[in-house]
Amino acid sequence: MENKTSQQRTISGFSKLSKRGKIKWIVQNFFKDPEVVAKELKSYWLSNEDQQKIIDGFSENTISNFYLPYGVAPNFKINDETYVIPMVTEESSVVAAVSKAAKFWMSRGGFKAEILGTKKVGQLHFSWNGDVEKLKQVFTELTTQLKTAAQSITANMEKRGGGIQEIELVDFTDVEPNYYQLRCNFETCDSMGANFINSCLESFGQTLIQFIATNPIFSAAEKEVVIIMAILSNYTPECVVRASVECPISDLGQFGEIDAETFAFKFYKAIRIAEIDPYRATTNNKGIFNGIDAVVLATGNDFRAIEAGGHTYAAKDGQYRSLSHCTIEHGIFKFWLDVPLALGTVGGLTSLHPVAKRSLELLGNPSAQNLMEIIGVTGLAQNFAAVRSLVTTGIQKGHMKMHLINILNQLEASEKEIKEAVLYFKDRVVSFSAVREFIQVFREGKHQSHLAY
Ligand code: MEV
Repeated sequence: MENKTSQQRTISGFSKLSKRGKIKWIVQNFFKDPEVVAKELKSYWLSNEDQQKIIDGFSENTISNFYLPYGVAPNFKINDETYVIPMVTEESSVVAAVSKAAKFWMSRGGFKAEILGTKKVGQLHFSWNGDVEKLKQVFTELTTQLKTAAQSITANMEKRGGGIQEIELVDFTDVEPNYYQLRCNFETCDSMGANFINSCLESFGQTLIQFIATNPIFSAAEKEVVIIMAILSNYTPECVVRASVECPISDLGQFGEIDAETFAFKFYKAIRIAEIDPYRATTNNKGIFNGIDAVVLATGNDFRAIEAGGHTYAAKDGQYRSLSHCTIEHGIFKFWLDVPLALGTVGGLTSLHPVAKRSLELLGNPSAQNLMEIIGVTGLAQNFAAVRSLVTTGIQKGHMKMHLINILNQLEASEKEIKEAVLYFKDRVVSFSAVREFIQVFREGKHQSHLAY
C-alpha cells in the first residue's frame, strides 16, 4: 500500500499550477521549513518581470532561477583582434587560468584560428526492403525532388548563402536488415540550424515515401518505405575550427625553476600521453571543454550538442584521443586544437537570453564562424593553462588558492577572516582541514593578524 509520503509526492496537473502554486506544493511536501524555502526560491526571481517571463519561457515548470557566475577573460589576441571573452562556469580557477594563458600568448604573437569547414549534418533513417541498385540508379532524380519539395523551407536560408548541400545514400543492410539512411549536409550560415535541418529532413521523409511509391522502376513489393526518424546529427566532423599557437622554444621563457627547453619537452610529452591513452585523453579534453562550455553557455549556445560532437570527434579513428596536439620541430613549439563546433549567433537563445545577447555584443557581434574561432581558442588556452600547471607546479597550488574562498564561505568566515586567511595561505598549501584549523585557531584569538604585513 502506498504510504502517505509517496502519495504526497505525487501530483497530477502540476504544470497547470501557477508559479506560486508550484512553489507552494513543492515546499509543503518536500521541505522542513516551507515558508523559509518559498521565500528563498522567490528571492532568486529577477526584479525585472519582463525578463523573468522570457527566462521562464525557455523551459517548463520553472519555479526559480539557478545562478552561475558570469566572468570575463581579457587580453585574448586572436588573428590580431583583441577580445574580452565572457565565460559562465562554476569551477574556480578556470577563468583565472585562461586569462593567464591569454596574457602569456598575447606577448608571443597571440592565437591563430582557422575554419576548416562549416558543414552541418542531418540524417533520414528508413527501413526499405527493395533493390538498392535501382535506388542508386534514380538517386540523382530523387535528390532533385528532395531539394525541390523542401524549397519553401530553404528559400530564406538560400538567400543568406546557405541551404541543402550533398545528400548521400548510406547502406547499413549488412549490419541491420533493410536499414538505410540519407546522410545530408547543410550550410546554416549564422544559425546553429537545428530547426532548419530537422524541418528539411521531415520534408525529405515525405518526398522519399512519395518517390518510391510512384517511380515505375520499383516493383509493387518494393513500394513501401518506413521512415524511422528524421533528425540532425550532433557529430559534425566537417564543421571544425583549428586554434593554434607557436613560438621559438627560447621565447617560452622560464617557469619557476624550469627552463624553456624542459618545459617544452614535458608539455609535448603530456599532450602525447593524451593522444595515446584514453584515460588521460578524457581529462585533457575535459580541460579543453572547461573553456569551450563556459563560452558556449555565455553565448546561449547548446553545450550538450558541442560536448557530444567534440567527444565523438576525439574518437574518430576508433580510439578516444586528445583533441589537442603539440610538436617541437626546428626549435619551434607548436600547440593546436581541432574541434567541431556547431554554433549559432542568430536565433535560438542567442538573442532571447538577455545576458547571452550582451555576451555577443562584448565579442563584437561575431558571425558563427568568428564565434567558432573565439571558442576554439578559449578551449586551447584552457588546455595550455592546465597542462602548463600540471608539468610545472602541479594543478593543486593554483586550484586550491582559487578554491580557498569557497572553503571559507562554507565555513561561514567573516570578511575579516577571509582577508586574514587569504594572506595566511599565500605561501601555504590550501586544504579544507588546514583552512578549518586556521579559522578555529583564529576565532580562539590564537592567530596573530597578518593584515599588517
Ligand atoms: C580540471 O577541471 C581540468 C584538468 O583536470 C584538465 C587537465 O588535467 O588537463 C586540470
